[in-house]
Amino acid sequence: MYVATLILHSWLRWLFIGVLLLVLGRALWAWRRRLPWTTQDRKLLAWLLGLADIQLLLGILLMGFLSPQASRVFREGRDALEDPATAYWVMEHGIPMILAVFLIHVGHVFVRRGQDDLARHRRVLVFFGLAAVIVLTSIPWPFMPYGRPLFRLG
Ligand code: HEM
Repeated sequence: MYVATLILHSWLRWLFIGVLLLVLGRALWAWRRRLPWTTQDRKLLAWLLGLADIQLLLGILLMGFLSPQASRVFREGRDALEDPATAYWVMEHGIPMILAVFLIHVGHVFVRRGQDDLARHRRVLVFFGLAAVIVLTSIPWPFMPYGRPLFRLG
């Protein structure tokens, strides 16, 4: 169960990053050309929100129960953070990612309430741009101390 969840969480990261970058690319293009906010923009955001929520759910499963290292924080409390691996998964991965998903949701509300189409594209750039920076700097890339494979097979 642990490995299966890790595999899903690892592969879904690519779909999530892909849709996030697509959303940002479209918003930049549309904002510079003053293009209208379309149904496609709305649908793409809905996909992004869905993927972010699935990643959040899998992350909570890992952190709360499945990951032997990360879940220590719930069993042992603060003391577990003295282990650098546990501290990494909680403080440098889990918490920033929760913040990124929160930004995506808050951003979505602000985008929907935008006065006009230009404001909507601009709000996508601000909120989702910030979320993208957090996500891309909080992923355990292979060159990092707690790095993980780009494409997990088992
Ligand atoms: C939202 C975007 C997220 C992305 C793109 C992401 C990405 C990743 C990646 C690539 C891994 C490594 C998987 C592997 O070992 O191959 C990972 C592991 C992990 N993530 Fe996330 N994650 C996200 C959100 C979260 C959240 C919100 C939490 C916690 C609430 C979380 C908790 C964890 C934990 C506990 C591990 C594994 C620790 C272990 O190996 O035992 N992740 N994540």
